[in-house]
Amino acid sequence: MSIVNRARPEIRALRAYQAAEQVDDTIRLNANESPSTCSVGHFRRPLNRYPEVRPLALQAALANRFGSRTEQVLVTRGSSEAIDLITRAFCSAGQDNVVLPSPTFSMYAHYAEVQGAKIIQVPSGPELDFRVDINGVLAACTDATRVVFVCTPNNPTGATIPRADLLRLIEGRSSLSAVVVDEAYVEFGQEPSAVDLVESHPNLLVLRTLSKALGFAGARCGAVVGSPDVLALLSAIQAPYALSTPVIECVEDGLQAECLAAADRAIQDLIREREILLQAVAALPFVIKVWPSDANFFLVRVSNARRIMEHCSAHKVLLRHFGGELEDCIRISVGSRAENERLLQVLTTMDAS
Ligand SMILES: Cc1ncc(COP(=O)(O)O)c(C=O)c1O
Repeated sequence: MSIVNRARPEIRALRAYQAAEQVDDTIRLNANESPSTCSVGHFRRPLNRYPEVRPLALQAALANRFGSRTEQVLVTRGSSEAIDLITRAFCSAGQDNVVLPSPTFSMYAHYAEVQGAKIIQVPSGPELDFRVDINGVLAACTDATRVVFVCTPNNPTGATIPRADLLRLIEGRSSLSAVVVDEAYVEFGQEPSAVDLVESHPNLLVLRTLSKALGFAGARCGAVVGSPDVLALLSAIQAPYALSTPVIECVEDGLQAECLAAADRAIQDLIREREILLQAVAALPFVIKVWPSDANFFLVRVSNARRIMEHCSAHKVLLRHFGGELEDCIRISVGSRAENERLLQVLTTMDAS
């Protein structure tokens, strides 16, 4: 059964915004656009015209990259927007809930709060070595669970959910909840993407972003890969013309074969640098534990997280500290060889206390 039946009734009833027609070789006097532009940028499409309501060529290029059909892709302003759209489409305020392991990327809970959905967190903390407790996640779901979010490899732990566990989760919630598998960091790990499961599992929504492995964080572009009927719901609440012409063209260019080949080489370099940095950090006297990572960052447990954060910041190197259950942990993003070496230099000037 389609998961669309579990979306908010008023969203199911919503008709997508009817944008002004866009037809080639016509005089366009139907969208209150300007006949000229003061832009000094050079773009293939005229900047005085609205972009396509949904960028079809970009959608096709992304589908090609992800290994899905074009109609299984909705292009979004980063995967952050996708998280927001999914939460708004499925959760009625004050009534429905989302289930997620903890710790994980904080935007799932953030958008659930914005939407007024209850948040049920399932501990997958350091005592479990950050392995996501799939049985616990399934057991935490209630009749009102509309969305389950998991992130693999997980931010901020770097841990991958084995495919067999993912399948158990997706199938355990089939026709009950949308299961969102956030693959923001999948290119840095060993497990294949879950995109190939979309065809056979209509409650699965895979999030992909161009912000990480492809290096397009400044462009704000991501995608949801899912069943076309669910994507139609999300599209109905997404702003028309969500992706701007400069972004569409810059990402189309970045998805050309030679750029992708360069990106794939950069991913392999980063994985090598991650292992070098991880080993060097593990050897520092104040480091208690380093968790292996399948992402472009790793998490370390240290003897004095706040003092290390202050010391690094004073030396103009920024790391990430989350507090709470990760009070004694720091997340380190892997940078260039020179950036990583500078970090190590700064860290070695810390005393062991
Ligand atoms: C797990 C995860 N998902 C999504 C995002 C957001 O990505 P985007 O830049 O595509 O909005 C991030 C960003 O840090 C992330 O870590």
